[in-house]
Amino acid sequence: MDRYAVVGNPVAHSKSPLIHAAFAAQTGQALVYEALLAPLDGFAATVAAFRAAGGLGLNVTVPFKLDAFALADRLSPRAEAAGAVNTLAFERGDIYGDNTDGCGLVRDLTQNLGWSLSGRRILLLGAGGAARGALLPLLIEQPAALVIANRTESRAVELADRFRTQARDTLLHACSFDALSGSSFDVVINATAASLAAQSPALPEGLYAPGALAYDMMYGKDETPFMRAARSAGVAVVADGLGMLVEQAAESFFLWRGVRPHTRAVLATLRTLIDQG
Ligand code: ATR
Repeated sequence: MDRYAVVGNPVAHSKSPLIHAAFAAQTGQALVYEALLAPLDGFAATVAAFRAAGGLGLNVTVPFKLDAFALADRLSPRAEAAGAVNTLAFERGDIYGDNTDGCGLVRDLTQNLGWSLSGRRILLLGAGGAARGALLPLLIEQPAALVIANRTESRAVELADRFRTQARDTLLHACSFDALSGSSFDVVINATAASLAAQSPALPEGLYAPGALAYDMMYGKDETPFMRAARSAGVAVVADGLGMLVEQAAESFFLWRGVRPHTRAVLATLRTLIDQG
C-alpha cells in the first residue's frame, strides 16, 4: 500500500492519521498513514529512511517545518512565501515542499464558515511562523485591508515589508497592539502562541466591527482565552482552528492523490472526539 505519515516531535497527539484515514476511506484511496516520531536532531535521517522504505509523502509538524523547508529540492510559491513546509511529496526523484496551512485557514473561513474575505478588513495577530504562513493565501483573497499586529512591533513591520509586493490593492499595515486603538475589523485572526500560555493577546477594546468574526488558529476541548475575550466583547461568530487543521490536511491529500476529499463529516467527527476529551 502507498505510505504516508506525519512526522514531528512529539507526534503521538497528532490528529492527522485519523483525518487521512477518513479521507482515504471516503475517496476509496488505498493508502496507509502513520505517525512518525523523529529525534530532534534527526529530521533529515528520518525522512530519508521513510523515503527509502517506499514512503510517498509526509506532513510535517512541530518543530520541523523549517527543516522541511531546507530539505526540499523544489518549493511551491506558498511554501516559499511561508518560509516553512508542512507537506513533502517524494516524486520524480526529488523532494517537493508545499505549505497548505494558510490555504487551510482560508478554506475554513470561506467555505466552512461562509465568510467572504474579499473587500473585508482583516486583523492578523502575531508575526511568527503561523502568521507568516497565512499571509499569502489571505492576500490572494484581496481584502480591503490586512493589518498585522504583534506584541513585538518590529516583527510585524518586518513581516509586512516582506509581503509588500504581493499586497496589490490590499492596504497592508503593521503595528503594535496598542496602536490598534480606534480601528475596527470584520475578521480578527489570532495567530499568536498566546493560547499556549493560557493567555489572550492584550488588545484594546472596540476592535470588532458589527457582525465580525473572531478566529483562533488554535483549538482544544475548551475555547481559548482569545475566543472567550471575543465573546465577552459581544462577538457573535467565534471559531477555533479545528477546521483549518482538517482543511490543510485535505489540501495535502489533494496534492498527493489528486483527489479532493469532502471535509464536513470528518470535521464533525473530530469535533465530537475532541469534545469528549
Ligand atoms: P509560531 O510559529 O507558532 O507562530 P513563533 O514564531 O514563536 O511561533 O511566534 C509566536 C507568536 O506569538 C509571536 O507573534 C509572539 O509575539 P512576539 O513576537 O512578541 O514574541 C506571539 N505571542 C506569544 N505569546 C504571546 C502572548 N502571551 N501575547 C501576545 N502574543 C504572544
